Amino acid sequence: MSRWDKREPYRRKARAMGYRARAAYKLLEIEKRFKILHGAKRIVDLCCAPGSWLQVVTQHCKETDLDIIGVDIAPLKPVDDVKIIQSSIDAPDLAFRIREQLGGLANLVLSDCSPKLTGNKTLDRERQAYLGKKSLAIALEVLSKRGHFVTKLFQSEYTQELVTWTKNRFDFIRLFKPSASLPRSPEIYLIAKYFRAPAK
Ligand SMILES: C[S@@+](CC[C@H](N)C(=O)[O-])C[C@H]1O[C@@H](n2cnc3c(N)ncnc32)[C@H](O)[C@@H]1O
Repeated sequence: MSRWDKREPYRRKARAMGYRARAAYKLLEIEKRFKILHGAKRIVDLCCAPGSWLQVVTQHCKETDLDIIGVDIAPLKPVDDVKIIQSSIDAPDLAFRIREQLGGLANLVLSDCSPKLTGNKTLDRERQAYLGKKSLAIALEVLSKRGHFVTKLFQSEYTQELVTWTKNRFDFIRLFKPSASLPRSPEIYLIAKYFRAPAK
């Protein structure tokens, strides 16, 4: 076993289980604790490459007539029963394209966005916060009433702002650090359940 594997047991487990990334275990922990996948039929995964969250979603969601859409700026290998939109989450027409391809509103929006890290902590946190805010904006446009939203955040001075915005729109909010997330990583996940959709 290499030194790298000893330090990262989740990487080794992921490889053994056929997951494309160790990130799969973060979503599995989130699911175990917060039951976000239960009953979800229309699911959007923002920043989905290389696709390990999509693998978890397709394994865990047993509803018939599932519609799952993955979005990433980078190309990824196809995942069975998943439609992929290769696009930046910045694209102005993205929410429209998602709604069109889903054929309705989503029950769950997942987001695990990371910018290309520069090593400049201030810049990396600012860029990640931007992706988190964009993800929330898309979730607000595509979620159905009582739907759920999960997003990665790098803990920073921007975290509270995003938590406050989310609190205004969802009935249940938690911040959660899965044990599969490296302790040295600034990442944390915001779990928001039961969207209070605006009256139409
Ligand atoms: C940590 S990875 C996601 C891992 C994924 N959850 C999985 O389980 O395989 C972060 C992803 O964010 C994507 N990303 C970064 N900026 C983006 C943007 N503006 N639009 C879309 N995707 C973006 C990257 O291409 C990368 O694939």
